[in-house]
Amino acid sequence: MRIVLLGPPGAGKGTQARRLAESYGIANISTGDILRDAAAKGTEPGLAAKGYMDRGEYVPDDMMVRLVMERLARPDTRDGFILDGFPRTVPQAQALENALAEIGRPLSCVLKFKIDDEMAVKRLAARWTCPSCKRTYNMEYKPPKLDKECDVCGAQLHRRDDDDEVTVRRRLEVYRRDTKPLEFFFWERGLLREVDAEGPEDVVTDRTLEAVSDIVDLAT
Ligand code: AP5
Repeated sequence: MRIVLLGPPGAGKGTQARRLAESYGIANISTGDILRDAAAKGTEPGLAAKGYMDRGEYVPDDMMVRLVMERLARPDTRDGFILDGFPRTVPQAQALENALAEIGRPLSCVLKFKIDDEMAVKRLAARWTCPSCKRTYNMEYKPPKLDKECDVCGAQLHRRDDDDEVTVRRRLEVYRRDTKPLEFFFWERGLLREVDAEGPEDVVTDRTLEAVSDIVDLAT
């Protein structure tokens, strides 16, 4: 199973990616998490990426392609993977398509999570994130059991620097400009499947599992 998740900020890609990867025991690759970890470590590329992220802009394609190709070369991707947040531009999609064609392991499908902009803004305004295990919480829909503490690993939750409303609206614009065209790119290849991402998390998970159920039967 090799799946790409598409969808605007706040659509619930990260939430559903974790659930899918756990259900099928495959690698979960979040480019946002990889970049935030690199920035937290203070590496040069990490700090360069943080500048783009904090402005709600995309990190340049060459850096993203290099980073994802290195990650896909690791052995834990052999049985399959979820790509959450990559590709986001047509050049990234072409690079991925070529790399997977070279090893004879094309994508199984692309799931596009559909959500209204105002719902996305509302969700992100209430998101708190665990910097350690990367789980996300929502003060409106899914608060942690203890105040600002991760239920699973106990780390202090924090707000992402790019979750203020002005930056979220910029991220939505950038998504529309640079990532929307990928819907046609993948549709043309017969890979695009839509998932209604509004409604309770568990309901969206059921829809997501249903959307990939035929692929599960085909194993990897
Ligand atoms: P990234 O971290 O990938 O951010 P994003 O794509 O903007 O998506 P989000 O993480 O904000 O939202 P999500 O859809 O994962 O929602 P979540 O599950 O958390 O990327 C950040 C930045 O990195 C980019 O802006 C860019 O700068 C850079 N970058 C990354 N990849 C790149 C690339 N390939 N090229 C260039 N630059 C790149 O859910 C959101 C909230 O809603 C949570 O609080 C959650 O609990 C809640 N929630 C989830 N589902 C539901 C539900 N069904 N009902 C109610 N609440 C829900």
